[in-house]
Amino acid sequence: MAKLWGGRFSKKTNPLVEEFTKSIQFDKKLAAYDCAGSIAHARMLGKCKIIPKKDAVKIVSGLNSILNQIKKGSFKVDNSVEDIHTAIQNALDKKIGKSSGMLHTARSRNDQVSLDTRMYCKEEINSILALLAGLKASIKGFSKKNIDVIVPGFTHLQNAQPVLLSHQMLAYCQMLGRDIDRLNDCKKRVDVLPLGSCAISGTSLPIDRNFVAKELGFSKISSNSMDAVSDRDFVIEIIASLAIIGMHLSRLSEDLIIWNSQVFGFLDIGDEYSTGSSMMPQKKNPDVLELIRGKCGTLYGSLVEVMTMMKGLPLTYNRDMQLDKEPLFKSVETVRCSLKILIAMFKCLKVNKEKASELLNDEAIYATDIMEYLVKKGVPLKESHDIVGKIVAYGLQRKLKLSEISLREYRFFSPKFNKDAYELLDAKKSVSLKNSFGGTSFKQVRRQLENA
Ligand code: ARG
Repeated sequence: MAKLWGGRFSKKTNPLVEEFTKSIQFDKKLAAYDCAGSIAHARMLGKCKIIPKKDAVKIVSGLNSILNQIKKGSFKVDNSVEDIHTAIQNALDKKIGKSSGMLHTARSRNDQVSLDTRMYCKEEINSILALLAGLKASIKGFSKKNIDVIVPGFTHLQNAQPVLLSHQMLAYCQMLGRDIDRLNDCKKRVDVLPLGSCAISGTSLPIDRNFVAKELGFSKISSNSMDAVSDRDFVIEIIASLAIIGMHLSRLSEDLIIWNSQVFGFLDIGDEYSTGSSMMPQKKNPDVLELIRGKCGTLYGSLVEVMTMMKGLPLTYNRDMQLDKEPLFKSVETVRCSLKILIAMFKCLKVNKEKASELLNDEAIYATDIMEYLVKKGVPLKESHDIVGKIVAYGLQRKLKLSEISLREYRFFSPKFNKDAYELLDAKKSVSLKNSFGGTSFKQVRRQLENA
């Protein structure tokens, strides 16, 4: 098949080499961007009189019709060629004949592939941003609906203190908010036009890079041609941001899996989002969440893949860099699928309030409230901590819950105890007391809901 090079070669390329070096099987994903980039480039070549106006017009109209075919899904990618740049160039040759040979003036595949990848990234960042906002909205809706549900919050997966379930869910909104910030920040560095850097050093032809940037909606043009053709930081940044998103989604999934288990049992994942067992007829398993959790492996793998591929590469372009695309595409797809299914799933999650309140039977979760009760009465923290620790141990030894220990016994540990201490052994009270900014009180959670 026609190549974009070959003049200096006297022997045919070994078919094994062609098979080994080609990227068409994955970079065909960039077809529309490649076309759009070429259209802007051809317009610039015509405007700057680098090629005759009438040839530029012919090229642009040929590319436009190819772009239409790509958008309609009727463009047949020739899988035998080296890469998408070659495929589009060949298609244009076929369509318009001789003028197409002028398109690659003042351009190399080295700046072209960076341009295509940046255009892909800009679009995909926007679509992931929309999904992140969608998941935030779903979590917010769930939190609003279940604002009154109290559950034990954990540290070390041990009962710690009562919290509003909505407070815990809104913690994930905070993480997703940072994920959004990170991607928006990445976008600034993706939004730089590399085209015009050519193979390595720029060109002697009078190109207008700002014109191309404007045509393609880039806010900046790159300042160093050598950097522009060899930089893949933007790919790494996106993959890293996606890996962090994946990590957040895996933690969210794990919380939902735990709560959905029979041991906790206060959350029910809808039948539509569960799967069964081939042997145990009673099973309803959270496989979707487990896969989201598991796919973190793919995301971390992609990050390590590209970081390692880039390490120690001499400037400027090296063919190694072709290997950035599959991990990039895979990461984008993985996060997109996980976000989509989570958004849908949240609409079906049901909370079992009785189960949730059963979990609050462990009155030791109020120990910190009792400690702060003593602090409010002037007992130094260290002493209060010690007193309440001893009371907990006393109860454990005698198999007494904190509410079953008499006031006389409490007074034995500290004379500061009064009858009102028993009022603390209540989940609603405990939660309401945590009214410090960002705490789990109803008031603070309502504020979070308003700001989320
Ligand atoms: N397919 C290559 C890539 O994805 C672009 C081609 C550049 N090839 C070259 N020999 N300069 O990076």
